[in-house]
Amino acid sequence: MNNEVKIFCPATVANVNCGFDALGFALEGIGDEMVFRKVPQPGVVITKITGEDLPMEATKNVAGVAAIAMLEGEALDFGIEIEIHKKIRCGSGIGSSAASAAGAVFGINQFLKTPISPLELTHYAMKGEALASGHEHADNVAPCLYGGTTLITGYDPFRITALPPMDHLFVGILHPHIKIATKDARAILPKEVPLKDAITQAQKLAGFVTSLYEWDKTLFAESLQDLLIEPHRKQLIPHFDAIKEISIAEGCIAFGISGSGPSLFCFAFAKAHIDNYLATSKTYYMSKGLEVDTYSSRVSGQGCYVL
Ligand code: HSE
Repeated sequence: MNNEVKIFCPATVANVNCGFDALGFALEGIGDEMVFRKVPQPGVVITKITGEDLPMEATKNVAGVAAIAMLEGEALDFGIEIEIHKKIRCGSGIGSSAASAAGAVFGINQFLKTPISPLELTHYAMKGEALASGHEHADNVAPCLYGGTTLITGYDPFRITALPPMDHLFVGILHPHIKIATKDARAILPKEVPLKDAITQAQKLAGFVTSLYEWDKTLFAESLQDLLIEPHRKQLIPHFDAIKEISIAEGCIAFGISGSGPSLFCFAFAKAHIDNYLATSKTYYMSKGLEVDTYSSRVSGQGCYVL
């Protein structure tokens, strides 16, 4: 068996407006690369990080923490060296920490005679995610490992449902160059929500899932609404309302905060709508003195994969 493997770990969009801490999807063509070496000495050593200034010490690095959790949890009798090549900006809201955490466990899995399941991998990856956000949430690591669109249908017992493909949709990602730490974006959320909003939000998530199984375009677009989180987090994102208006004017069918932001995602039925929206929003942000990155993407059916 080869003792070295190189992988790709995709960026992901979590929450997707109607499923806070539950819903997420993988993006096509945006992601990190990682290299793993199986070594006889036990433990995890991070040998190289490019693209971002992140801790080399395994216990302080999300990939390191996820890898340690898996080596210990599975009682594996070997050690791992990891190279991390970050392409997803930290604090961008498209699953940067999740890509590292999910990549770590996916990489180790390649060396097992009997690989463990995506559900078990997600369990270990969440340990790394918790280092970044202070909370074990799986809505980024699950789609990063499974690909496509995933719904966390329970944390105790832990259950993940892979939803029908959304690969016919076009996705735009706009990343204004400010950093939002997930921990901070969680800290501003209220501990309690009004019952009527909780009921409407449950209907939106149910409507979203139904729309995918029945492919009901109208229900899909109507369901992608966020009553609970967006009203609090949008204040962290400059010009949120103006960019939302641009997305509607350019023909996008849904718009919202990707994960904890600041990236914004939108869906459209045609690539031209996404490209026009990204161009107009970029011009708008630049007129306000803010740099942005834009990505025209799709929902990827693939999670992490070996290169
Ligand atoms: N569900 C998490 C949150 C995702 O919004 O805090 C973080 O990327």
